[in-house]
Amino acid sequence: MRIDILTLFPEMFESTLGCSILKRAQEKAIVDIILTNIRDFATDSYRKVDDKPYGGGPGMVMMPGPVFDCAEHVRKLSSEKGRVILLTPQGQKFTQEKAGQLSKEKRLIFITGKYEGFDERIRIGLGAEQISIGDYVLNGGELAVMVIIDTIVRLLPDALGDEDSPKDDSFSEGLLEYPQYTRPEVFRGMKVPEILLSGDHKKIAQWRHQQAIERTKKFRPDLLKE
Ligand code: ADE
Repeated sequence: MRIDILTLFPEMFESTLGCSILKRAQEKAIVDIILTNIRDFATDSYRKVDDKPYGGGPGMVMMPGPVFDCAEHVRKLSSEKGRVILLTPQGQKFTQEKAGQLSKEKRLIFITGKYEGFDERIRIGLGAEQISIGDYVLNGGELAVMVIIDTIVRLLPDALGDEDSPKDDSFSEGLLEYPQYTRPEVFRGMKVPEILLSGDHKKIAQWRHQQAIERTKKFRPDLLKE
C-alpha cells in the first residue's frame, strides 16, 4: 500500500511514523508513507496557503490553488490513481468497518488542513471523500490522519507479529474485546478467572465470547443496537 499525506506540518508525523508497528511496517515494505508539504506549492513570496472566507466570518480557509497543485503533483508520483480523502469534522465518521475497507486499497491520499477548513472547490475538483474521526473539532486534520493510518496499517497482512492478530480486536465482530489477563495469577488479591488456567480452549473461547457480549452490554450498549 502507498499512503500519501499532504500537510502543512510534516514534522508532526515523525514520532508516530517512526515507532512501533508503523515503523516496522514501513521497514518491511508493507506500506510506503510519503509526506508532502502543501506550503511548497504556495505561489507567492509569503508562501500563503490560506485566506479569509468570502462572505465574512472567523478564521482562515485553505486556498484551492496550493492544495490542487500539491495533489496533482503527488498523484503523478505513482501510476495508481488513489482514493483522495479530506480530513474534516463534516466527514463520514471513521469506524473499524471503514478501516477494513480502506485497508484493501492500493493507494490512499490524505489531505489535511488547518484553520476553518477547505475551499469547497477542493473537495469537488479532486473528487475527494471526507472523513471525520469523531464529533469534535481538532485544530487540524493531522491527528485524524495518524489515527486512521494507525488503524489501517495494523490490518495489512503481516503488519502485526505472529503472536498478534487483529481478528479479536474490539469492534471486529461488532463487540468489545473480552477481558485479558497476564501474570501474576494473583495481583493485590485479584485472581485470574479459573477458566483461563484450565487449558480447555473450547471452553475458554465460549467464556470469552460471553464476556465480550456482557462487556458490550455494560460499557457500549449502543453497539448492540447497531
Ligand atoms: N479536522 C478537525 N476536526 C476533525 C475531526 N474531528 N476529524 C477529522 N478531521 C478533523
